[in-house]
Amino acid sequence: MIHDFDAPVPRIGTACEKWDGAAAYFGRADLTPLWVADMDFAAPPEVTAALTARAQHPVYGYTFATEEVYESLIVWLKNRHGWRVEREWVLLAPGVVPSIHAVIQAFTTVDEAVIVQPPVFAPFFKAVATLDRRLLENPLRLERGRYRMNFEHLEQCAAQGAKLLLLCSPHNPVGRVWQTDELEEVLRIARQYRMIVFADEIHADLVYPGFRHIPLASLADSQGSVITGVAPSKTFNIPGLGLSVLIIPDATQRAKMARIFDRQSAHVANPFSLAAFAAAYRHGGPWRDEAMQYLRVNRDAAMRFVEERLPRIEAVAAEGTYLLWLDCRGLRMSDGELHEFFVCKCAVGMSPGTVFGTGGSGFMRLNLAAPRALLLAALARIEEQISVYWKD
Ligand SMILES: Cc1ncc(COP(=O)(O)O)c(C=O)c1O
Repeated sequence: MIHDFDAPVPRIGTACEKWDGAAAYFGRADLTPLWVADMDFAAPPEVTAALTARAQHPVYGYTFATEEVYESLIVWLKNRHGWRVEREWVLLAPGVVPSIHAVIQAFTTVDEAVIVQPPVFAPFFKAVATLDRRLLENPLRLERGRYRMNFEHLEQCAAQGAKLLLLCSPHNPVGRVWQTDELEEVLRIARQYRMIVFADEIHADLVYPGFRHIPLASLADSQGSVITGVAPSKTFNIPGLGLSVLIIPDATQRAKMARIFDRQSAHVANPFSLAAFAAAYRHGGPWRDEAMQYLRVNRDAAMRFVEERLPRIEAVAAEGTYLLWLDCRGLRMSDGELHEFFVCKCAVGMSPGTVFGTGGSGFMRLNLAAPRALLLAALARIEEQISVYWKD
């Protein structure tokens, strides 16, 4: 490997949420934070070089996205996902979360129903609630260790008049990479009930061998039903820079979205985020491939550790994302007790399952994107404390 993912990159003092924000979130600073979904790895050197070069020009004035920015994305999506995206389908947006808010505003009105499939990334719920839309939940089902969508219930939700489905693909936090037959069924339901699907594909590039991310829109025959959100932020570990993309093949829908952004006066063109975006998509491929190799070994090591040494916890096999969903119900603790156990006893800061909504109680989300030694040391502390706890 060219890049050294084992080397710790000290982040304390950079005002980063994961480390510097841990004290406020967990009530103690001296724990191993394995929560916020970013990586403890240095970004691709080509990205740092592009940012440094841009910083060296000392005028940081108003900037626009050059054609190179669009082209970098289009080439990446074609080469990596076999998806041919037209230049005019692309709208730049500050982040995928702001895009979720904008999509809800553009395609639903107050009190109309939006479907989410929990357990899922918490801002999905927050967006629906903040914008006074009606939340319709179609909880995922855990069947023999693998999560599945409940299509019968999804269809019932759509039949109730839901205008929009927020699909997380791959799915944070359960790590599913949805397969063609599953995505086809989502599209069938969307078509039948004239429902728009917002496919949040921010984790698209973080898929393990044996699985393949399929962009939902690449399967859609009628272009009108799918709007996609993608970003280089998770793939290349640059989420703090805040630049993402909406891909909207339908011209009328695109105009609607552009109007929402206009009304918010949401300007995305920041010279640094644009420079990083283009450099990441153009030159970051080899870094991404090595990062995935490293993450795969982390995932396998963590899953093996859980299976062999944490007998009351089960890891749900992650097919994609650097997040591992741990079923801790075997510990027979309430959610408050799980917090007390992992944070106070083990000094490990994971995201509590309850933040992901229905189906999250009794679970924890572990972020695997850390140097392996740190990850394994955190797991060893959990092992030690489980043996103390169950001895008492
Ligand atoms: C599914 C999903 N969507 C969106 C985001 C964040 O998007 P952004 O930082 O571009 O707003 C995350 C971050 O964890 C995520 O997991």
